[in-house]
Amino acid sequence: TLDERIAAATDLAALEAIRVEALGKTGSISELLKSLGKMSPDERREQGPKINGLRDGVAAHIARRKAALEQAELDARLASERVDLSLPPPPERRGRVHPTMQVLDEMIAVFADMGFALAEGPDIEDDFHNFTALNFPPKHPAREMHDTFWLPEDANGERKVLRTHTSPVQVRVMQRLNDKLPSWIANGQEPPIRVIVPGRTYRSDSDATHTPMFHQLEGLVIDRNIHMGHLKWTLDQFIARYFETPVVESRFRPHHFPFTEPSAEMDVKCDRSGGGVKIGEGSDWMEIVGCGMVHPNVLRNCGLDPDEWQGFAFGFGVDRLGMLKYGMPDLRDMFAGDVRWLEHYGFSA
Ligand code: PHE
Repeated sequence: TLDERIAAATDLAALEAIRVEALGKTGSISELLKSLGKMSPDERREQGPKINGLRDGVAAHIARRKAALEQAELDARLASERVDLSLPPPPERRGRVHPTMQVLDEMIAVFADMGFALAEGPDIEDDFHNFTALNFPPKHPAREMHDTFWLPEDANGERKVLRTHTSPVQVRVMQRLNDKLPSWIANGQEPPIRVIVPGRTYRSDSDATHTPMFHQLEGLVIDRNIHMGHLKWTLDQFIARYFETPVVESRFRPHHFPFTEPSAEMDVKCDRSGGGVKIGEGSDWMEIVGCGMVHPNVLRNCGLDPDEWQGFAFGFGVDRLGMLKYGMPDLRDMFAGDVRWLEHYGFSA
């Protein structure tokens, strides 16, 4: 009978099948109810209460069985999912801060104290920002000097690049075409500009001191009557704060960058006799940063009048600065993704 089958249903799906069979639109009891319409009034008076009673009884039985099955299911789940609080917890593995990010934080903190704001630009750059606006002559071999990663031609026949340095962001800041700028610059205010630009940079190069992806931190100051003395003071202050030393003896060596004139590399006094590098001691020199006065052509390319505005710029290799401070021997290890290396050289958050 229906009652026996309901009582014997062992899961909710089976029970539901029985319900549809009896009480569904074309179920057996539903058909009986429909048949009431074709009966004579007398017959209906007799059969009506019986059939309705049958339907109510079956529906109630199904509901009871359903509640029982649901309770049994819940009991089984509670039994199987019980948490054993006496078990020892799994060992906790904590992440570490990558040295490059630690160094970036340290550098940003020093420059922030000096009043620099933070700006960013895209990793995928166009030729104009990476080269042309920075006074690289067209078709000039200097464009190859950076071992540039060129992207395939896009629909407009343009070849973008993975930026070879953070200097293109100088251009974006001066042009105020950068939505990742501090609002006081993005809002189109005139100089003074004082920004630093941390970011990833790319060159097709790989050895103990070069990786295809690395990090730079660019600096740009634009104001009236800016000269190299301001540049040297800024860099000296930074070196002292970053290496946690008194101001270290430094020197400018003449260099060439298309976008600065004059250009220099700054060296700091250090001691290399002990295998590592001790900044501020000894009698060796260590190249630490490329820099110079912003070239008048660059100012002009960015819509600034070089007779009114001058400035300086510098570009640090962030990862290299980390190697110097924290003594990693090989730059390639930095981005090899070996967790053991990260546990050794990483910083706790
Ligand atoms: N962009 C230069 C480089 O990648 C560094 C630099 C930045 C030099 C700013 C001068 C001024 O080598």
